[in-house]
Amino acid sequence: MTKDASGVALKVRLALKDASAASQSVGPPGSPVEMSCGGRTFADIGRRMLDSLMLRQQRISSTDSVLASVSGARRPTYRELVKAAFQPRLWNATQQVSLGGAPYTQMEANFPLFFGLAIQMYESTLISDRAPLDAYLQGDHTAMNDQQVQGMNLFLGKGKCISCHGGAELTNAGSRLLFQPRERIERMVMADGLTTLYDNGFYNTGVRPASEDLAVGGSDAWGNPLSFTREYNTVLKGGSIPDPLDVDVCTFEARLSPAIPCDPTLKPNVGFRDSVDGAFKTPTLRNIALTGPYFHNGSRATLQQVMEFYNRGGDRRGEDASNTSGFDHPAVNQHNASNLDPDMTRLNLTPDEVDALVKFMEVGLTDPRVAWERAPFDHPSLILPQGEKGDENAVVQKAAGPNVTTRQALDANILLQPVGAEGRTALQGPLQPFNNDL
Ligand code: HEC
Repeated sequence: MTKDASGVALKVRLALKDASAASQSVGPPGSPVEMSCGGRTFADIGRRMLDSLMLRQQRISSTDSVLASVSGARRPTYRELVKAAFQPRLWNATQQVSLGGAPYTQMEANFPLFFGLAIQMYESTLISDRAPLDAYLQGDHTAMNDQQVQGMNLFLGKGKCISCHGGAELTNAGSRLLFQPRERIERMVMADGLTTLYDNGFYNTGVRPASEDLAVGGSDAWGNPLSFTREYNTVLKGGSIPDPLDVDVCTFEARLSPAIPCDPTLKPNVGFRDSVDGAFKTPTLRNIALTGPYFHNGSRATLQQVMEFYNRGGDRRGEDASNTSGFDHPAVNQHNASNLDPDMTRLNLTPDEVDALVKFMEVGLTDPRVAWERAPFDHPSLILPQGEKGDENAVVQKAAGPNVTTRQALDANILLQPVGAEGRTALQGPLQPFNNDL
């Protein structure tokens, strides 16, 4: 909603480029399977929150790297914060607007925009670039020990990890593609020897058979393909797609034609084969020791288990390889026996080499500021609900009150303590892998 000269809010279409972090953050608060009751809109959440004091139930350290100035004083309300951060035409219309037949203020109606952008802007300040690997690559050869250096060399060589976990972010799906959007689609030779197109940075590593989870081969709530590759296929067929998409065929790893120089006007055949079903986004490996369990289904508890998976060539080999990682998907005219990535082969790493790779990831890729929650990775306190108080036979009942008129169970909470810019104390020690608590 934007306000026109006469003070009336108008509905306008807004398509922010590469703002997936903002889109992602506005999903859970209004979702009836995540944080909201059914039928509640984001504007309702805005109405509830705008006059609340910021982080009212949370404590803020007096040395917080962002919020120290409000740690002791009266906290501003979200309404005050929106006014301070966003242009007036996004919130100061004098007339109410109608959403689904109900009246809202313009500020309430635009609340998801403010909320999503605020989270995206905050997240973009959390850049973890001081791991031992960063120091090593900048010439400090004492930053990693011999075992970690051996692990790094295996990562780049025999382990083939760099084929997918490339670049500073350690994923080919990294922000580089933001600056070279014409490289979002790649072409390669697959494990079965045939050529396909796919979304750069998304690979089928065969953690599970593709038929169980289409991953980037799925569609959004409006039926559009999630995959750029499928959108490209639609364009070649003369159809229209919701995203602007431009493809540079001369950056393909497997060229369309061997002719030199490359002809940028060449196009793949209409209805080309894609390897999109069952392909997952390659995650970053920065601070990976702290973010278990691993893989999209959390099926590995430790980096040692992840390495054993890669070392045996994944879980779709032998009899299984012919082949459960691809599957027949006639709806999109794909009939691939296998979408398995060609780099998913037995690696023949020795136990020492596996250990070196694990140590390289565990130590070499951990930024101490993250492990010790030092600025900018410090944070206010957070109350995390964790089930209800009670045991397997009975739960404790919440006391009745003005807001509790039905019988309800009493929440059990975990309190995450606030941390200031200086990070955790020596007594607290650094963050530990999740499975230390199991
Ligand atoms: C063919 C591309 C490819 C290769 C080669 C590859 N990876 Fe991965 N990696 C991925 C993808 C895709 C995922 C996500 C898989 C999933 O969640 O199902 C992943 C996930 C991981 C994870 C878990 C991350 C998390 O947050 O859950 C780790 C750790 C990892 N890889 C390390 C490695 C190491 C070490 C190597 C080399 C031995 C390697 N990878 C080789 C593509 C690859």
